Amino acid sequence: MCGIIGCVGREDETLDVLVHGLSKLEYRGYDSAGVALTGDRLGICKQAGEIEALREALEARTLSGSAGIGHTRWSTHGPPTDENAHPHQDCSGDVAVVHNGIIENYQQLRDGLVSAGHHFGSDTDTEVVPHLVEDELAAGADPETAVRRAVARLEGSYAIAVVVAGSDAVYAARNDSPLVLGVGDGTGAAEDADAPGTGEGDGDAAADGQAYYLASDVPAFRDFTDRVVYLDDGEFAVLSAEGCRVTDVDGNTVDKPVDTVDWDPEETGKSGYDHFMLKEIHEQPRAIRQCLRGRVDEMTASVDIGDLGDLSPTGVQFVACGTSYHAALYGAQLLREAGIPAQTFLASEYATSPPPIGDALVVGVTQSGETADTLSALREAAKRGARTLAVTNTVGSTAARECDHALYIRAGPEIGVAASKTFASQLTALNLFALGTTRTGDTRDVIAALRELPSDVQQILDDSAAEAIAETYVDADGYFFIGRGLQFPVALEGALKMKEITYKHAEGFAAGELKHGPLALVTSETPVFAVVTGDDEMATKTVGNVKEVEARDAPVVAVTDGQSTVERYADHVLDVPETHPRAAAVLANVQLQLVSYHVADKLGRSIDKPRNLAKSVTVE
Ligand code: F6R
Repeated sequence: MCGIIGCVGREDETLDVLVHGLSKLEYRGYDSAGVALTGDRLGICKQAGEIEALREALEARTLSGSAGIGHTRWSTHGPPTDENAHPHQDCSGDVAVVHNGIIENYQQLRDGLVSAGHHFGSDTDTEVVPHLVEDELAAGADPETAVRRAVARLEGSYAIAVVVAGSDAVYAARNDSPLVLGVGDGTGAAEDADAPGTGEGDGDAAADGQAYYLASDVPAFRDFTDRVVYLDDGEFAVLSAEGCRVTDVDGNTVDKPVDTVDWDPEETGKSGYDHFMLKEIHEQPRAIRQCLRGRVDEMTASVDIGDLGDLSPTGVQFVACGTSYHAALYGAQLLREAGIPAQTFLASEYATSPPPIGDALVVGVTQSGETADTLSALREAAKRGARTLAVTNTVGSTAARECDHALYIRAGPEIGVAASKTFASQLTALNLFALGTTRTGDTRDVIAALRELPSDVQQILDDSAAEAIAETYVDADGYFFIGRGLQFPVALEGALKMKEITYKHAEGFAAGELKHGPLALVTSETPVFAVVTGDDEMATKTVGNVKEVEARDAPVVAVTDGQSTVERYADHVLDVPETHPRAAAVLANVQLQLVSYHVADKLGRSIDKPRNLAKSVTVE
């Protein structure tokens, strides 16, 4: 997840504001950063690495200007290099652009620009934008019109900020990627600042110390102002010494309300959510979309995961820990369904596993790419002669660097210690891996279901009854989670989430195992969450297991799409939209995440940083 900052203010302050803003966006994760300032000429400084490295590089430069933009990049396309760091420029060096999101038609635009003689210096989709602006300027457009016309040619998601040499303004546009404006400054001038939309100002921002900001998230400028304007999709903003003006696609002025942020600056990274975990649960539609973007083609029912499609393994061993292990269990089932022998090992137990056979592939599923147990299992696999693949969220992580191949799940940084959106993205990416590797089965149905996943998840987020159920069972002695087939890993994950963030006893079981022992623990004080989707033989058997717990007076919460008869035996229902069984697992998990979150919240737990746990476990 990248971060954008922009500022128009005093010439001697703008650069500091930008660098401060970038440091405030660090929580989003980054692997490179850069700034561009404009006065008569445009100055730029950018590089791979830490913000501190950028600060040092800036010391050796004399950049100045009253209008500027900055960016922290979290690589999803193209490695973290100086060239791929933002801002990106046109051929003349007079236009600089920062961008979050993905420009879907960039290849087509780039091909056209290259044949028209433009030279590209990066692998990014973003770089088409400055070249498009350059063409419009060359055709005689003023900077605002040039940016507006360039943006109109983009398809996909974007938050974009642009500066042009000779213009003391920042131009910005958004579509499907957040962008927020900040009005005024901390010197008192904010009281007099004209609200965006009026198009008026006193014309002397620099003299007054008045400033305007823009960012992908409020923390970037929260130390300077608490007055914000949230841009909506399709809107365009111009920040200049004259004020801050917001217009719609057609250039009509939009009267935007100026909100006052009442969050503590420390809290603002949560965008109004009480916890990062809740924010990240709500980011799942976007994370899944991001994972799929450019990789599936519904028309041809095909999947493109780069060169991974040619792996054709004779067998696959998965190694992973915790939540990622549950994702790996799911991934192995997908491969077995397609006829590829696949096994899953807890990474810390891999030393006891049978050696990989023949042309086997060992897949490390690891969000961070830095988990010591998983790295050690992958190294062991390489020593045994296996090819290795990292399924990870982190470009440039140790797993990504050491494995023969990497498949990125593109969830964006996850701050909450308990994994939430990365699990959804792992399941999505493992579907792509299975489809790309095996090319058998009902590809078309799976792809259609994956495309629907973001909106299905959104439906759950909008309508979930999880909070009420959490209220009912917050004082329970313990919680059981059962599921079969693809819903078995979901049951395990539901229990892990409950343990981690509520500190209460919770266990996940294969539904059929309950009667082989754990049933002894079931009482009227132990709610059983039964994940039952579809109406096949597996679902019927799980309904049978639900009857067993119901007969022992256990309250039953059915997580279901309503296709089976489970609701008859349930005290409560958590609905999931009807879909393909593979997608149903992702959906059921969202309901269970919400239950755990709300139980933990009602118990006042430290949800984002549960006791004794760390986000990245770098010891074995
Ligand atoms: C649980 C959780 C952990 C991690 C595990 C592996 O919510 O986050 O169980 O899944 O520590 O971490 P990664 O995926 O970074 O290898």
